[in-house]
Amino acid sequence: MSVMGCAGWKLFWVICLVSTFFHYVRVTVRESRVEVVRGESAPLSCSFFTLMPLFRLSIIWTLTPLSDPDSPTQVIVYDHGQVIESPSFMGRVGFVGMPWSADIILNDTRVSDAGVYRCVVSNPPETGDPGIGELSLTVLAPPSLPMCLWEGDTDTGGNVKLSCVVVEGFPTPQLIWEKLEPIHIILPVNMDGGMTSSVQISNVSAETSGLYRCSVSNPLGTQHCYISLSVYSPPDNTPGTLQGVLLSLSMALLQLALVVLVLWLRRSARDSKWRNSREEDECYNEIKYTPSLIKRSFV
Ligand SMILES: *[C@@H]1O[C@H](CO)[C@@H](O)[C@H](O)[C@H]1NC(C)=O
Ligand SMILES: *[C@@H]1O[C@H](CO)[C@@H](O)[C@H](O)[C@H]1NC(C)=O
Repeated sequence: MSVMGCAGWKLFWVICLVSTFFHYVRVTVRESRVEVVRGESAPLSCSFFTLMPLFRLSIIWTLTPLSDPDSPTQVIVYDHGQVIESPSFMGRVGFVGMPWSADIILNDTRVSDAGVYRCVVSNPPETGDPGIGELSLTVLAPPSLPMCLWEGDTDTGGNVKLSCVVVEGFPTPQLIWEKLEPIHIILPVNMDGGMTSSVQISNVSAETSGLYRCSVSNPLGTQHCYISLSVYSPPDNTPGTLQGVLLSLSMALLQLALVVLVLWLRRSARDSKWRNSREEDECYNEIKYTPSLIKRSFV
């Protein structure tokens, strides 16, 4: 004890006083909000202060995912000198500065890694509650390629619904629908949940046909998908069309009549020729039979 000296004694008493009032592990986080772009590394800090030796130090990192707040998962655990990584973080997470700090680094971040991280530090026989540090991780991602779909009836008078679905993107992408051809129009969209938007087109007509585009964008990027819609319109019987049809029909009849006339004329001409030749034949026969008649008359 005499080796410690005066300053040593003072420190000892301060520590004793501190441990009387704070007989638990104290945890501090340097940054309570961490923001990274998907794929980057996220340093998650968690410093602790304890008065006891670190033989039985235990650190548990958990994640309450933004996408699924009801199911917190374990990220990485340090217990009795052993490090255990959870399967979904295997090979991507590690402690830095063990055993003096509970900091971790999360590599190759994914959008699903976003959420609230907690580091829980306990150091028996230090009594009291474990120290808990909390921080939030935001993983930014450009929108993924959206999918354009349509359903409904593309016959005139039918209803068509265009849908645009995007799977990933943070901050939540904005989805817009436009008609590009033949005229450019921005269409009013209904947001069906966070990542799907739809456009309802009722009573479609030939003018509904054209090229449609869904654009999905957030501060990190923009993606598009397209749909080409062609509305089937059955031939309509408007008076104008009917007149046209009748006109062409009468023209055709006239032509037919002409053809029939020409054929009839040619036929009758041939018939008269044929009749003439028959008459000639008859004459010939008469002539031919004449000798026999003559002969017979002679007999
Ligand atoms: C994370 O990446 C850093 C830098 O590239 C590397 O030093 C570290 O070992 C990686 N950690 C894990 C757990 O892969
Ligand atoms: C559908 O559109 C046609 C022409 O565009 C219109 O005459 C008709 O009244 C519309 N029908 C309905 C149910 O809106």
